[in-house]
Amino acid sequence: EMVVKTTKPGAEIQSTMYGLFFEDINFGADGGLYAELIKNRSFEFTQNLLGWKSFGNVEVRTDNPAFDKNPHYVRLSNPGHPDKQTGLENEGFFGVGIKKDAQYRFSVWARLPQGGESQSFRVELVNSNNNPVAKQTLNVTSADWKKYEVVLTSPETDAKALVRIFLTSKGDIDMDHVSLFPVDTWKGREGGLRKDLVQALADLKPGVFRFPGGCIVEGTDIDTRYNWKNSVGPVENRPLNTNRWQYTFTNRFYPDYFQTYGLGFYEYFLLSEEIGAEPLPVLNCGLACQFQNKDPKAHVPVDKLDCYIQDALDLIEFANGDVTTKWGKLRADMGHPAPFNLKLLAVGNEQWGKEYPEHLEPFIKAIRKAYPKIRIIGSSGPDSEGDKFEYLWPEMKRLKVDLVDEHFYRSQKWFLTQAARYDNYDRKGPKVFAGEYACHAQNKKNNFDAALCEAAFMTGLERNADVVHMATYAPLFAHVKGWQWRPDLIWFDNMSSVCSVNYYVQQLYAYNKGTNVLSLTMDKKPVTGQDELYASAVWDKNEKAYIVKIANTADKEQNIRVVLDGTKKGQLTSGTATLLHSSDLDAENTLANPNTVLPQKEDIQIEGNVLNVKLGAKTFAVYKFLK
Ligand code: AHR
Repeated sequence: EMVVKTTKPGAEIQSTMYGLFFEDINFGADGGLYAELIKNRSFEFTQNLLGWKSFGNVEVRTDNPAFDKNPHYVRLSNPGHPDKQTGLENEGFFGVGIKKDAQYRFSVWARLPQGGESQSFRVELVNSNNNPVAKQTLNVTSADWKKYEVVLTSPETDAKALVRIFLTSKGDIDMDHVSLFPVDTWKGREGGLRKDLVQALADLKPGVFRFPGGCIVEGTDIDTRYNWKNSVGPVENRPLNTNRWQYTFTNRFYPDYFQTYGLGFYEYFLLSEEIGAEPLPVLNCGLACQFQNKDPKAHVPVDKLDCYIQDALDLIEFANGDVTTKWGKLRADMGHPAPFNLKLLAVGNEQWGKEYPEHLEPFIKAIRKAYPKIRIIGSSGPDSEGDKFEYLWPEMKRLKVDLVDEHFYRSQKWFLTQAARYDNYDRKGPKVFAGEYACHAQNKKNNFDAALCEAAFMTGLERNADVVHMATYAPLFAHVKGWQWRPDLIWFDNMSSVCSVNYYVQQLYAYNKGTNVLSLTMDKKPVTGQDELYASAVWDKNEKAYIVKIANTADKEQNIRVVLDGTKKGQLTSGTATLLHSSDLDAENTLANPNTVLPQKEDIQIEGNVLNVKLGAKTFAVYKFLK
């Protein structure tokens, strides 16, 4: 028997529960959420024509460039024979995905290096059988760099098309920032985000959106850290950065993985606003990823942190400053005069050792002084210390950060035993941000088993709402052809996407998060694994609903009696049960079979204030009663 005390609503559930962690890993941004279809559009990859094939007379140049921070461009010149062609073709990200009847906006910056008569080129969408299926000719009319654009409509669907450009006149043309976007992006924004992927995020009703990572915040070395100032302003002049996830310990190597920053801090703030989530940027603290002590490439001495600290202060001004401030004006010029109302800022990602608090401290001092209302998030260290994080927590308390970011990628067993993890956390110290977590089953798949363990674990997040203020599953996205890390919440290819079973666990919590925790006990104890059951309960004062979540991790059906103590006969009207279940623990949702495991909703009866249920083996259930 489980008893829910309905008379005394407890701790408030934070509006930041449950959230999203975004990182450009697994081609999550370039090649994913950022809908650009051309790879290496600015010719800035370390091999300037990576992603391109050139034919005829094509030269990479840097003299008098269009964009000083991305100076490389190509010159297309006469091939010298009537039967020869000059041009380029782009392979896209694992191909260029095109859809029947969809429109694609091609754009390019171009000029006539010799001036004079206008010159022309043709752009084509070419299907995987090497047939051009859509084409348009454009005239370049000026000796100055100018943007030219045209819309192509695809008559067919092909996941692996390419984009080809032919010089069609005799004189030279210089080209830079060659771009192709679907016209139909999220909110129809030009150069915008992939609609299906943003919709999947919005459908989680996220409370917080953490960006831009992860390890990419730290960088492989300090020079390649994520520098937010490089990610704002006109996209053409955001300098390319390499991606820390080119190479990983999974041995899946992607030498063509770079960050264009087309999806930059402005876009992240805007996205947070549009999906209703608190923005939570994470900044580098002067330490690179897995830094080697004192290596100058990875470690900025504490007395040389000024410009990093200034970056943090400037970021707050960019988000919240009025239009008369330098950075507030840039935000307004980019299209958002109103502040983004930033409240949270994390400094450092998964840092460790005594270097981290030493580096964090001056940031805290400066931020508190200039912006006392900003809530600062510190790190508890790498996942390998995930059981206790013994070293950094006391340091975070000493520094009085507002929240501590914990990361754990662990086994099913770990997730189940840690359902009680937060029951004894100090209530007086910083709050918890479970900033990266995912259950890693043996095969590291997004299977039902892992999702069920996460559901069980999350009863502990919910029960401890007074101390756990934010939680974000990680990583968020993965391209099926280009991943370095799994499991991931949402998988996609060039044409479509699929929500994992784990996604539906997050969604069930988000849609049923309630406003206050209720005490739920079995034999007067929280339900943290007795009889292989895990449970928590909340009250939703807006909906006037009691919500009870139970994960039955046993491989047998269990008879459970839930008493809603304090409610009277007839007070509870309609009730529903939403069940997530699969008889196959290894079941997963895939692009081919996206609906293998989905939540199923049914009506249920309550007798007086007692719910008698037979909860099936291996099932996560959300029971909801309206008062
Ligand atoms: O989520 C993948 C990686 O895991 C993140 O980049 C990093 O913070 C953690 O180690």
